[in-house]
This record gives sequence, C-alpha cells and structure tokens, in this order.
Amino acid sequence: MMTKNKTLKKWVDEMAHMTKPDQVVWIDGSQEENDRLLRQMVDAGMATPLNSEKRPGCYLFRSDASDVARVENRTFIASKKKEGAGPTNNWINPEDLKTTLKKLYDGSMRGRTMYIIPFSMGPIGSRISKIGIEITDSPYVVVNMRIMTRIGKTVLDALGEDGEFVPCLHSVGAPLAEDQKDAIWPCAPMEKKYISHFPEDRLIWSYGSGYGGNALLGKKCFALRIASVLARDEGWLAEHMLILSLRNPAGEKKYIAGAFPSACGKTNLAMLVSTVPGWKVETIGDDIAWMKFGADGRLYAINPEAGFFGVAPGTSMNSNPNAMATIRSNTIFTNVALTDDGDVWWEGIGSDPPGHLVDWRGNDWRPGSDGPSAHPNARFTAPASQCPVMAPEWENPVGVPISAILIGGRRPSTIPLVHESFDWNHGVFMGSIMGSEITAAAISDNIGQVRRDPFAMLPFCGYHICDYLQHWLNMGARTDAGKLPKIFYVNWFRRDKNGKWLWPGFGENSRVLKWIFERVSGSGNAMQTPIGFMPTPDAIDLKGLNVPAAVMRQLLTIDIEAWRREIASVKEYYAGFGDKLPQELSAQLEALENRMNGQTNVR
Ligand code: GTP
Ligand code: SPV
Ligand code: MN
Repeated sequence: MMTKNKTLKKWVDEMAHMTKPDQVVWIDGSQEENDRLLRQMVDAGMATPLNSEKRPGCYLFRSDASDVARVENRTFIASKKKEGAGPTNNWINPEDLKTTLKKLYDGSMRGRTMYIIPFSMGPIGSRISKIGIEITDSPYVVVNMRIMTRIGKTVLDALGEDGEFVPCLHSVGAPLAEDQKDAIWPCAPMEKKYISHFPEDRLIWSYGSGYGGNALLGKKCFALRIASVLARDEGWLAEHMLILSLRNPAGEKKYIAGAFPSACGKTNLAMLVSTVPGWKVETIGDDIAWMKFGADGRLYAINPEAGFFGVAPGTSMNSNPNAMATIRSNTIFTNVALTDDGDVWWEGIGSDPPGHLVDWRGNDWRPGSDGPSAHPNARFTAPASQCPVMAPEWENPVGVPISAILIGGRRPSTIPLVHESFDWNHGVFMGSIMGSEITAAAISDNIGQVRRDPFAMLPFCGYHICDYLQHWLNMGARTDAGKLPKIFYVNWFRRDKNGKWLWPGFGENSRVLKWIFERVSGSGNAMQTPIGFMPTPDAIDLKGLNVPAAVMRQLLTIDIEAWRREIASVKEYYAGFGDKLPQELSAQLEALENRMNGQTNVR
C-alpha cells in the first residue's frame, strides 16, 4: 500500500532512516493482516490464543513486569517555554529532548519491522474527527490500534494528497542484534522510557514502553495531550470523559458526559444497567470525549475511539454484564490470569479462583499464593461494536448534544454522593478542585493517596493547567447560559470507618443519574446549600434499595468540619499556581468560604 501524501511519505522515509528497521509494512487494517500478525506473535511465544469455544478470537499477552501501566514521571510536555507545560507536567526543552531521543531512536528498530498505521480518531468524515499516523515496531500495538481506532486504507483515502495528520512515532526501544532472541515483551528500562509530546509541532515521540496509553498513541497522547492543545487553539474541548445516553420511561433521551480519573468508574458508568425500572443507559464512549459547539449553540460530543481499553479486575456479570458480553470474543487481554482450560480469570470476576492459574507474570498461582493473579491494571482491548448497549447513534459524525457533565473520583470522605453547581463557572471551580485516590492505572509509589486532578486531566493536559481552566471558563461564555450542560459532582466512593463502601455503586448509580436527568429537565427537587444544589431528602428514587436511612443521610449531608479542611487544602493548592490561577476561581473559592461561614447566601 502506498500514499500520495508527500508530507507522510517524507516523514516515513525520515523515520525509517533514523530507526533502521529490517522492513517497512503499511497497515491496511484487513482481517487477513490482523490474523497474520497474531499468528506471528503466537509462534514467537508472545501471545497465547484462548480457548476457541469460550473466547473465540481472543488472545492473552503478558507484559514485562516493569511495563504495566502509564508512566507519569516519564511523560513529557516539551513546549518551547517551560511555562507552556505548566507546573503539573514534566517539561524538557524540546531541542534537548529531541537530541536525547534521536540518539535512542538511532537504529532502535534494528531486527524489527516498522509498521505504518493510518488511524482516524472519530468517525471518518466527521468535522470533529482527526487523523493520525502511528509508526511502531510493535505488532501488539498494531492489533490493539485496530480495535481502539479506525485504521487502514479508508483513512489514507480520507487523508488524500495534502490532508493533515498528527505524526506519532513509537518504538519499544529494544533493537535486536543479528541472532539475538527477542523478549516476550520487549521494552526499555524505566530511565530510557520517554512518552514525549511536542505541542507546537503537534508531534508525539514515544520510546521504551509497549503498554496502554504509553504505546497506543491515539489515546492519551493524541486524543488528550495533543488534542487539548488543538482544542484550546480552535475553541473546543478534548476531555477524559465517558459519554452515555440515558432514556426515561417516556422514551426521552439525554446525553451525559463524565470526567473521572483513571480506574474511577468511567467504563462501568458508560455501560451501566439501570436498577430503576424503565430507565436505560446506552454507551457512546467510555474514556474520551471531543466536544464542539453546534450551530444551535449546544455542545456536541463524539467518542474519538472505536474500542475499549478497560480495567479487567473488578469486572463481573454483577458489576458490568455489558462489558462481560463485549469481551466474549475478538478481545485482547493483557496481564490477566490464565485458567487451565484456556480462559481468563481475575480478582473480582465473580467466581472463586480455580485451584490452579498461570498468573500475569507467567508463574503458577494457587489460592493463597502471594499477590493477585491478575495485575491490578490488567486490561481488555475490545471493539465497541461488540457492546450490547452501544447507542445506535454512537458513530453519528455530528455527535450527541450534552445536557449534563459529571465530575467525580475516589473520595472516601467529605464529597457527598451528588451535588450540582450553581452555574457554569461554579462547575468549572468544582472541576478545578476535584481529587481522587491514586489508582494502579499509572505506576506510582503513592497509590491510595488523594491528589487533586482537575477534570481528571492532570496526567493528560498538554499545556498549563491554569490556561486549561481558563479555557473552560471561556467556553462557557461562548453560548447562552441556558444551552450549556449543567455540571454535577458525584462520589460513588465514600467509605465507613472500616473502609467499606457506603454506597453500593455500579447499577445503583442509575438512581443518581435519574435525579440528574430530572434536574436538566427542570423537574428534579433540590435545595440550595453552601456547596451547590443537593437533592431534597425524597428526590432520589430509593425504591428497592437496601441502604439504611442513616447511611443515606451521611451520603447526602455536608460535613461542615470536613469542608472547612477541604477549603484550607484547596487554598494551599491554589496558592501553588500563583498569579496564573484564573481570578474567577479564587473568587469562587472565596464565595464558597463565605457561604460556608454563613456570611452570605449570595453566590
Ligand atoms: P480507565 O480506563 O483507567 O480510565 O478507568 P475507568 O474510569 O473507566 O474505570 P472503570 O470503570 O474501569 O473502573 C475501575 C475500577 O473501579 C473497577 O475495578 C471497577 O469495578 C470499580 N468501580 C467502577 N464503578 C464503581 C462504583 O460505582 N463503585 C465502586 N465501589 N467501584 C466501582
Ligand atoms: C487511563 O489510565 O486513564 C486509561 C488507561 O484509560 S491508558 O490507556 O493506559 O491510559
Ligand atoms: Mn482513562
């Protein structure tokens, strides 16, 4: 396959010249090509085909133990000025970083094949979609990108002779000498991993990791870090958000987007099975939303992806039956456990562990063995089209009009089950202060500690976080207030003294979604509190739910002392931004404090 796009040809030639692969292969996206790559990986011992009756078309991969999640401290925003990346990103001067990387890339694909993957983020032809080209020496990346994005010839056709694309270079950073045997999961040591972004060049150079967001460059690197910069410049939003459709018993539909940090429940919420009779959730997307104003002044969202790269542990017929149905076939599993009959297993799958497993490291595992059998960040890669509750309109190039934006995270205390912002700017304030316990989705020594993660974009914003928050404020001024989505802060993760969840979560979250639907329809009952609107005691439908009244009260009242501490902590956090913090946000904080002290009811 060839392209007439001169810029693309030139770039591929340059990259091949630098990385020196044995051969260059253009990916056409066909089934035969996919089967061939998988067969090669099985033959090389890198992949295990699963039981073809239980899991047709499914494969298991085990990564290197050092390469199991995103690496935030090896992720770089190389803008020309340090100020451009801001205090929350790792910055390196782009010239210096390119010099370092060129040395690493020099010959880095020796003994390997260089694959060229043309991919589209979003339905081909949508005014919101964008094209990228990933060059990679990992066949694992190719078969994953085929599920996660739209790839191949149709994309090259859409690109044409002079179309624009985001160049995404990826190498696992493990060149092979003449008769060197390949590793099962080739990658470079931590200090040589570089997940690099050059926002001014709209360029991605990723080196040394083969896992998830480090390597599937359409996802976090392009659709969030580079796209957030494009969105700022072009007046739209690129967000770490699920998108769902919610239908009431009368058949009316509303679309809801939701920002939750990594491993905080987006996939689960996007596929939720409602426990409230007559209400139905359908999925548009589970991780990323690109949103633009339409001619009617409303905000329209598309899911730029075509698959799910979902957290396996905790996924069960109980918690997420739709995900379980989605991953029955044609799915790639990474770092889950293998059963003796060629099926997958993980902690929280809903059945007792069998007597013997092969764990994610490839070792024998029995109940009582050390550590979990599946890595906590084990993942499945599955086509969205296989999800039984995909909304029929999920690939509509126009997108879907968003009525509500949720924000949330893992907060064991303080943050109630749900509260609604007074208006857009107050909602942006809420988004700016949101926080969550750190999860296993990124390699970290601080798992479990609460960190502030504005709009769940802390690891994914490609520029200064204060400019990002200002961009959110600006977006709200671009249309009539009445046309803007309403913003709600939810928390499914409150715990009691013993660390047990206070709220049952999962399907029961539909009760909160119902109230949100009613609020955006103008009917739901709410009371004004210092932190925002909260449901009146009878406003949330609790029919058939077994949560004691005292627990519901705890979930839905404001703990004044905890909020005083929260405000003090936000002050400290804001102070770290100095003059760069948008004034509107410090004004919002002051107003919250005044309301909290009962000094004013004025917002
Ligand atoms: P990323 O793919 O990393 O962006 O994660 P995500 O936000 O899509 O999170 P996901 O839905 O995969 O959930 C992550 C973990 O949280 C899983 O182990 C879920 O079982 C668990 N989880 C999801 N929703 C809930 C909930 O409502 N309550 C509780 N207690 N746990 C939940
Ligand atoms: C996340 O960490 O938010 C993910 C997984 O969705 S990864 O693609 O690895 O970033
Ligand atoms: Mn995510």
